[in-house]
Formats: sequence, structure tokens, C-alpha cells
Amino acid sequence: MLNIAVFVSGRGSNLRAIHAATEDGSLDAHIVLVLSSRDDAPALGWAADHGIAHSSLQHVPGADMAESILRLLEEAAADFIVLAGYMKRIPGEVVRSFRGRMINVHPALLPAFGGKGMYGHHVHEAVLASGVRVSGATVHIVDEEYDRGPIVLQRCVPVEDDDTADSLAARVLTVEHALLPAALQLFSEDRITVRDGRVYIKK
Ligand code: GRF
Repeated sequence: MLNIAVFVSGRGSNLRAIHAATEDGSLDAHIVLVLSSRDDAPALGWAADHGIAHSSLQHVPGADMAESILRLLEEAAADFIVLAGYMKRIPGEVVRSFRGRMINVHPALLPAFGGKGMYGHHVHEAVLASGVRVSGATVHIVDEEYDRGPIVLQRCVPVEDDDTADSLAARVLTVEHALLPAALQLFSEDRITVRDGRVYIKK
């Protein structure tokens, strides 16, 4: 059983997908906290409507960010972090405290199309410009480097000739909604080990 804190910046469709999986029994976890980088993230209103503890970090000064996040996580008794569309950098202290217990979902097949500047529509525009025939979603463990931590799960989608960044994003998002709860369930069942930067999944 995981006690999950979900970090968001926007609409929170991945947050809702995780929540749905906890409700239908496919994910053995509780969402205990939703943290947003912005006051106006729709995900915050959704958390309020569902009685889930939530908070915005928008007005927390940079120097206090790590301490504030760690305090909120402790108050909620969170033991696992999911970055679900979170657009801000996670302070190093938080990465260190949750090493191996923080994952991110990225809307492309890492290690391609990741790193600085690769977020939102920029990812899908770069995928289309490159001419690759497949894209997909990646769930990876978060470490100090953007989009570089050990890969837990990936799933492909085709790139169609008439795709726009929006149509491709929508196809990838559907896959994200399945992949993120599936990855969390592997952690919940304690089936993930990491060796030399590579994830191994116990059968
Ligand atoms: C997702 O595509 C995620 O991969 C990316 O940001 C988007 C967040 O969507 N990092 P949502 O807020 O979960 O709907």
C-alpha cells in the first residue's frame, strides 16, 4: 500500500486516472496529498471536491521550497511521490529524501525527446518534426537530471501521417493514464529494483 503525493501544474487528468485506479481496486494506494505549482491548476479544485489534502506552492519562496514540500509530505504521511504534469524543478533535498520513491510521466519515449524545454506541445512538435513513426509514454524514476532517471515502463503509440501535436498528445495521454497506475502498482507490490541505472521487475 502506497501513500501517494501527486504533484501537478494543470488539468490533472493523470491525477484522476490514478484516483480511478485506487477506486476500482487495480491500484493498492491512497492519494494523501495533491501539491500544485500554481494556484489556478484545475487539479486543486478537483482534489478539494474529493476531500484530498491539497496545497499550492506558487507563493513559497525558492529558498523555503524544499523545507515546505518536505513538511507537507510529512504532515500527509506521504511515502511516494508522483510527478503528473508538474512543471517546476523538484529541489535536490526532496529528490534525495525520496530516492527511488518518486516517479514522473513523460509524454514521449525517453531518452529521446526529453530534457530541458521538452514539455507540453514542444515534445509532440519535436516528435513530428523528427519523422519517427512511433511515440509513446514513459514512466521513470526521478533523479537529479531532467527526464533521465531509470525507466520503469514505456508504451508505444503510432504516429499517423495526419497527426498534429494535439492529436498525438491526445493519443499519448490515453496511454499515460494506463501506464502511471500500472507503474505505481509495481511499486506497491514491491516488485521494482534498480541496478546500474536499470529497472528490474520481479515476476
Ligand atoms: C501529461 O502529458 C504529462 O505527461 C506531462 O504533462 C501532461 C499533464 O497532463 N508531463 P495532466 O495534468 O495529467 O492532465
